Amino acid sequence: MDAIKHYTQAPLPFIGQKRRFLTDFKTILNQCIADDGDGWTIVDVFGGSGLLAHTAKCSKPQAHIIYNDFDGYAIRLQNIKYTNHLRKIIFDLTQHVPRNHKLPENVKNQVQAALKSFDGFVDIHSVASWLLFSGQQPTDFHDLIFNHTYFNNVRLSDYPSADSYLNGVEVVSKPYHKLLPEFQNNSKVLLVLDPPYVCTAQGAYHKAGYFGMVEFLKLMRLVRPPFIFFSSTRSEFLDYLDLVIGYKLDGWERFAGYRKINVQVCLNKNAHYEDNLVYKF
Ligand SMILES: C[S@@+](CC[C@H](N)C(=O)[O-])C[C@H]1O[C@@H](n2cnc3c(N)ncnc32)[C@H](O)[C@@H]1O
Repeated sequence: MDAIKHYTQAPLPFIGQKRRFLTDFKTILNQCIADDGDGWTIVDVFGGSGLLAHTAKCSKPQAHIIYNDFDGYAIRLQNIKYTNHLRKIIFDLTQHVPRNHKLPENVKNQVQAALKSFDGFVDIHSVASWLLFSGQQPTDFHDLIFNHTYFNNVRLSDYPSADSYLNGVEVVSKPYHKLLPEFQNNSKVLLVLDPPYVCTAQGAYHKAGYFGMVEFLKLMRLVRPPFIFFSSTRSEFLDYLDLVIGYKLDGWERFAGYRKINVQVCLNKNAHYEDNLVYKF
């Protein structure tokens, strides 16, 4: 296999990618899985951009890595050449508009026409990152074209090739409740769990029915060690675990003695928040 380039962020935009957690993620992998990971399987159950699966492959190259691509991100990667082509078309149409400014109506019309007539794959999430107000996500192509104000945030250069990003990684696409039962009884299968945070906006995710409390509780019935769980302080995950363990609720042994790394996430010089990586091997 060719040497893998190490990506520290996903090649194409993906909201919620765990790029600020990679150092801590690798620390836990190295603490808990010896050497190059031979004999282990690591399942990135809520794979999103695949950044954790990719990082796991770089850290533990002999492990079998499974990336659950629920959002069709791998298809976006395969079509980067179309995305770069479309970026250039839209860049040329908008470059005279000041950065971050709203597109005048005539320019917006030209961009809409270019999107409609584009003869190739349209990656609506990448397009959204160039044209929509910070972080807004279209539900589909129609929504992207008709329901939003456009701004000039068009990326200035092409996306680099992502040819090696998923090298050596097995890609599957299943809802978690179909995937997890395949791995219930194997102590050398590490579950990496980064579900949508309960109590947050989830519009960015392709097939997401809302991942609410009931979905979270269903997920927790299927979690067993070894696992690494990404949890937001906002979603009361640690309080939930302490409740399950403290009252010895059904299955509490799966979580007893869990460990955590507190992660300080710095978004910019004024905005910080705190999350936890919870794990048990
Ligand atoms: C917080 S994101 C994961 C981000 C990922 N760790 C990364 O670094 O890019 C949560 C992911 O779970 C996916 N998802 C939502 N519901 C799901 C389900 N029922 N089964 C599997 N994945 C689901 C979402 O579409 C989204 O990709």
